Amino acid sequence: MAAEPGRVLKPCNGAGGPHITSAVKPRVAGLPVKERTSTQSAEPGRVLKTSESSEDSDLTPTAKPGMEEEHASAKPREPTVTGQKWSLQDFDIGRPLGKGKFGNVYLAREKSTKYVVALKVLFKSQLQKAGVEHQLRREVEIQSHLRHPHILRLFGYFHDKTRVYLILEYAPKGELYKELTKNTRFEEKRAVVYINQLASALQYCHSKKVIHRDIKPENLLLGHTGDLKIADFGWSVHAPSSRRTTLCGTLDYLPPEMIEGSLHDEKVDLWSLGVLCYEFLVGKPPFEAASHEETYRRITRVDLRFPSYVSNSARSLISMLLKHDPNQRISLDKVLEHPWIKDNLNPTTS
Ligand code: ADE
Repeated sequence: MAAEPGRVLKPCNGAGGPHITSAVKPRVAGLPVKERTSTQSAEPGRVLKTSESSEDSDLTPTAKPGMEEEHASAKPREPTVTGQKWSLQDFDIGRPLGKGKFGNVYLAREKSTKYVVALKVLFKSQLQKAGVEHQLRREVEIQSHLRHPHILRLFGYFHDKTRVYLILEYAPKGELYKELTKNTRFEEKRAVVYINQLASALQYCHSKKVIHRDIKPENLLLGHTGDLKIADFGWSVHAPSSRRTTLCGTLDYLPPEMIEGSLHDEKVDLWSLGVLCYEFLVGKPPFEAASHEETYRRITRVDLRFPSYVSNSARSLISMLLKHDPNQRISLDKVLEHPWIKDNLNPTTS
């Protein structure tokens, strides 16, 4: 995931968040990888072992019993391999898919099933330096349990002496922010499709008391039919929560209660949905400003202005999401019923 100029990646404990950035050369050199076809459906279902000799670091996987069960039942595998740990030897590694703060994401193929995945490689030293091991653990625990068509699957993880590897669903159409950059902004119908899919994925997360807290174009990927997938649960938590980690980077998607450091709940994602909806239609987030201080001011005052081409119906939904008081924000149920969504998804012909 490459940060564009002017798009500063968020979190840091003085250093960085759950994103990954610096280059890593995989031990298995760049073998050509056949990309997944729509008919390929086997998942890597190998059960994760919970322990490994751990002189390494305290990033030794601490899989919960429930997590093992989930993986065991995900897809049956050869009985002989069930129960074994994943390792880099199990994968052919292909081209880099994206860059992050702590490492890169590579296209990879599990050797025995030929199942194509995205392998996110993170350096332990960098995670430790930034003090974000707890965020990575939370990301793994949360994302591995979620099952929704618009949430990127996390199939499993493993580690070696220096790196942690996340085995992720491969999203063939890549990063949504690149599409947005290419198109400058989306037509309303396309934005409606994405917002509808995102609202349904968030509804599912919130039903499990999971809040994402980092909804922005950089954290959204596109599946093989162009369907949206929420990725990167590095900032997700169970509600309610207070933020103890220092924020840095862009404030653009953060609601007033989070930048003010208050106790917050799943309604933070409603705010970010409003910001995203605006950005899809306008090409930049609504409170963008030259300095952090000015963005902060614009967010806390909800200084919202629309270019003339934004429809009244879209303005209506965005304004109902971008309410300073979290309790005044429109619910996800009502977002899905809003005329901007309904009329654009099912246009009447009369
Ligand atoms: N870029 C970063 N993560 C990715 C993934 N899981 N699939 C495709 N492209 C990616």
